[in-house]
Amino acid sequence: MWRMLQRSRLISQRGLSSILELTQQVKMQSSLLPQSVKIVEVGPRDGLQNEKVSVPTETKVTLINKLSQTGLKVIEATSFVSPKWVPQMSDHSEVMAGIQRVPGVTYPVLTPNLKGFEEAISCGATEVAIFGAASESFSQKNINCSIDESIERFRELCEAAAKMSVPVRGYVSCVLGCPYEGKVSPSKVAEVAVKLKNLGCYEISLGDTIGVGTPGTMAAMLEEVMSQLPASCLAVHCHDTYGQALANILIALQAGVSVVDTSISGLGGCPYAPGASGNVATEDVVYMLNGLGIQTGIDMSKLLEASKYISNQLNREPTSKVARAMNSKSRL
Ligand code: HMG
Ligand code: MG
Repeated sequence: MWRMLQRSRLISQRGLSSILELTQQVKMQSSLLPQSVKIVEVGPRDGLQNEKVSVPTETKVTLINKLSQTGLKVIEATSFVSPKWVPQMSDHSEVMAGIQRVPGVTYPVLTPNLKGFEEAISCGATEVAIFGAASESFSQKNINCSIDESIERFRELCEAAAKMSVPVRGYVSCVLGCPYEGKVSPSKVAEVAVKLKNLGCYEISLGDTIGVGTPGTMAAMLEEVMSQLPASCLAVHCHDTYGQALANILIALQAGVSVVDTSISGLGGCPYAPGASGNVATEDVVYMLNGLGIQTGIDMSKLLEASKYISNQLNREPTSKVARAMNSKSRL
């Protein structure tokens, strides 16, 4: 509203040439956006790792199978982490054995170390993700080692993966804030992102683990990271605790990032990030991208089916505003 008032004031002050100038600016902004975006669905892993109640393996398998029918090309399926640390992911072998893999869809899994990597491969994983952090305290709480130690663990994992031609994705957590340390400097994020890239990660996902970022902090962090790495190897992973995720993603798209992590129905959180809510909902991001004319290849009605399924299983409304709006419209 304020912008509109400002705009109409500007227009009346400067006349028709200003209208043309403004239209040109809007067009330029849209032409900076990517034509297509790859969505990395993390709900079955990031979403379900944080559930208080135990989710049956069959529910996880059915969810992944439903997601596989939506047009999504990447579905993070589970984690090969210690069952003492994250009991919800202890059925990883059964999940990997139970899902029906659709050709053209990849099902990466989280692996914190060589042990997790070897188990993942023996269960048929064809892609893995390592997860580091830009905050020392979070690294200690989440994976029980310093940032430097984590890089050494990842090195042996990446060497093993390279020998087997297994692609590795890298996460950097706490890129816009840490639950234990507060502010995190963009230069530390860039430093860790570069280290993961140098280990051989094909893509670096920048995680706002506790969803505290705003468009301003996202822009500043991306500027620093992109001074060292191209946008083509970056993804953003926004938890939506403070409701800023869509705005932050739009900033990332304008900066040239074209890979976005999302979670069906807005499920999620990290057990070692107290207070963090779920990832941005897949439905909400796909709705925004559809509105911007950006291709995702995802069928919204099938996405809503998967969202309804998991919400019913967990006995709660989806966090996704789009799912809520569309579900209530279809009940009319
Ligand atoms: P540790 O206790 O330091 O491990 O945990 P250790 O090497 O000293 O071994 C201790 C025991 O754990 C041994 O067993 C190992 O065999 C076992 P024991 O001899 O006592 O019977 N162990 C394992 N078991 C199964 N799988 C493994 C494994 N490794 C060792 N891979 C460890 C270190 C990394 C294992 C632990 O801290 C851990 O599992 N952490 C995972 C925490 C986690 O999964 N967090 C959530 C995911 S990250 C996230 O959500 C953020 C993200 O979404 C991005 C964002 O939002 O920012 C990705
Ligand atoms: Mg996460």
